[in-house]
Formats: sequence, structure tokens, C-alpha cells
Amino acid sequence: MEKHKVALESLDPYRIRNDFPIFERKIRGKPLIYFDNAATSQKPKSIIEVEKRFYEETNANIHRAVHTLSYESTVLYEESHKKVANFIGAKNWREIIFTRNATESINLVAYGWGLHNLRKGDEVLITIMEHHSNIVPWQMLRDQKGITLKILDIDDEGRLKLDELPRLISERTKLVSVIHASNVLGTVNPVRHVINEAKKVGALVLVDAAQSIPHIPVNVTELGCDFLVASGHKMLGPTGTGFLYGRYEILNEMEPFLYGGDMIETVTIEKSTWNELPWKYEAGTPNIAGGIGLGAAVDYLNRIGVEKIFKHEREIVGYSLERMSDFPWIELYGPRGNDRVGVVLFNISGVHPHDVAGILDEEGIAVRSGHHCAQPLMRRLGMDIAVRASFYLYNTKEEVDKFVEVLREVRRLF
Ligand code: ALA
Repeated sequence: MEKHKVALESLDPYRIRNDFPIFERKIRGKPLIYFDNAATSQKPKSIIEVEKRFYEETNANIHRAVHTLSYESTVLYEESHKKVANFIGAKNWREIIFTRNATESINLVAYGWGLHNLRKGDEVLITIMEHHSNIVPWQMLRDQKGITLKILDIDDEGRLKLDELPRLISERTKLVSVIHASNVLGTVNPVRHVINEAKKVGALVLVDAAQSIPHIPVNVTELGCDFLVASGHKMLGPTGTGFLYGRYEILNEMEPFLYGGDMIETVTIEKSTWNELPWKYEAGTPNIAGGIGLGAAVDYLNRIGVEKIFKHEREIVGYSLERMSDFPWIELYGPRGNDRVGVVLFNISGVHPHDVAGILDEEGIAVRSGHHCAQPLMRRLGMDIAVRASFYLYNTKEEVDKFVEVLREVRRLF
């Protein structure tokens, strides 16, 4: 059947804002303009309610007892895994392991897979664009196992130098771990190309999707990655939630990361055997309420539609770049194309980034200033710190106008 392209309806950020209680708050007497979504997103009332209702009506430990409450909480917690699996196109919900955040998910792979499978001389390839969470665990393996860490560079606009991949990937490459969307520059990387190159030499690929999953439709089966990590709290879910997707065969073979309750099948004083997936990797009582909240976040995102969110953010980021480009005293970083999520990194000449962020805060505008947990990238860009505005589904062009107005005031004051 012939497919007709239907123009995607726009989302209405003003209506969406009504779902988020925090926007009733005033900051220093001003309406809150929240442009720090790459650090963590705000939470809709429906998700806060789900967690509250769990504690009020269902609270009990999972997998532990035959009583009604334990059964109900087990079902809810498992259902959340299924929701996340469907959301990212995983074939089997047992491929989804709940963690505290993307950082913990990467550590799970580094300890559970890397520590036991990598040998001296093996190589792990990352990029200069990585968040610290996708650098430091591999440095640990470099120091403990004698592996080599290779780094793919970026060009001056902040895109990966893909033409250097063939030189960096070889038979020695065992893992390529790459960020999908940069939390600093907003660049959306062509991860499918990277995965194809890695597969030529049989290397595994981990995709750090912390900044893509909340904003762009992502399908792990179409991508063909081996691991994918994300944080729940950046996708409207509760803090202390995140997940690891891993291919079933690999997770089945890997060693546990944390040992103890619930991750076992049998225990004798001599030895223990492991529980089935995903519980083998979820030792101890997990963040049950948070996990259920993450499932509710997925429901919310599905109701709005991630495609619509992406389209909206593209409009907001495009509008911001257009407005900010009018001023020669604003230095903007990152690609100037459509391959970016709603992140704008900038500096105002002659003004310290923390002063910019402080004055914005006086006006109720929340941005992040600093190194953005990516010091090697900042150094590659020739600076230590900068200001970042990052957008989400509830941000409006009106807020961008106010933001630009305050930036002009910053410039005037300094
Ligand atoms: N990774 C988060 C950020 O980029 C904390 O701000």
C-alpha cells in the first residue's frame, strides 16, 4: 500500500504546561522558565500521582511474598519494564534492566561485561563528545585490564569525524560506546553508521541515549545496538530511575554487577546461581515506586508522541539560534543544521558563565553553567565552562523571547 506522508500536528506547550505543577511556582517573584532539561526534566502530575498512589494503596516488596500487595506491586513493576521495552522497540521485556540512572547502566556493562571479557591489548572506542559517565568507567578498565581507550574526534561544528572511523576501528576493537545526542552541543550523532562500522569487525556497541530517548523516537531493534542506556528522570520520570537495554544473549552470558537478594536462583554456602533476566541484574529491593513512575512517564510520552516532541523542540531550538545569532557578542556552539536536539551552548563575550546564569536566575530562568559533565569536550572546544539552555515539550517561543531579552540586559550590565 502506498504510504502518504501526513504532516505531523504540532503539540501545544501551553496545554502541556498545565500538567506540570512546578509551573505554578514563582522564582524570585517571576514565572519559572525552565531551560535545564538536559540535567533533569520536570514531572507531570499524573506521574507524581502514580508514585503517591503506589505508596498509599499497593506498597509491598516485589518477588517476595504471596500476599495480595506483593503480587500487585510485582505486576506493576514488571509492567513498567514491558512499557520501556515497547517504547524503545526491544523484542523482549527481559532485555530491560532498571537502574538508578544512565551512569549506573554504563557501569553495569563495564563491570558485568568489560571486566570479564576484555583482555590486555583490547580496544574500546569512545568519542571526545562523551559525558563523563561514558569515559570514566572505561578508564577504570584501562587501568585494571590494560585495554586501550581510543577517541573519535569532532569537527569544528561539533559533529563526529566519521571519516576517521576506519582508522580507529580494527580487529582489536571490542566495544564502541557512543553518545547518541550530546548533552553539551545538542548534536545528534549518526549512530547507525557507527554501529555498521563496528559490526564489520564484530565489536559490540553501546549507545548512550540519555539525551535522545526523551526527545527522539529510538528503536533498538532497528538500530541494531547491543546495549543502550538512558535515565528515567530526563524523560519525565522520577529521579533515581534509569535503564539498560542489552541483547538477551549477551545479558544472559554476562556476569552480575551487584550480588545479593533477588538476583539469585539458589544459594548454598558453597555457591550460588543466578536468577532469570532481568532480575539477575537488579540486586536487592529496587526502586519499586520509581520504576512504576518510569512506566507512567512512558505512558505520558506515548500519549503526546515523541515525534511531536522532537518537532516542537526543533522549532524552539531553531528559533533560539535565530534570535541569538542577531547578537555578535553571543558565541554559539554546536551544529547549525537539523541534526540537533533542544540544547543551546553559548557564552557572552566578557561575562563569566556563572554571572550569566545568576542574572537569568534573578529573572526566574533556570539554565546550567559549568563544564556539563564533559570536560574533555569542553577542552576540545577551547574553553572550560559555558552556559547551556536546554528545552523540552513545555517550553515556548515566548519564553525564548524573555530569555533573549535578559541576555541583552546581561550584556548591558557588563
Ligand atoms: N548529564 C546531566 C547534564 O548534562 C546532568 O546536565
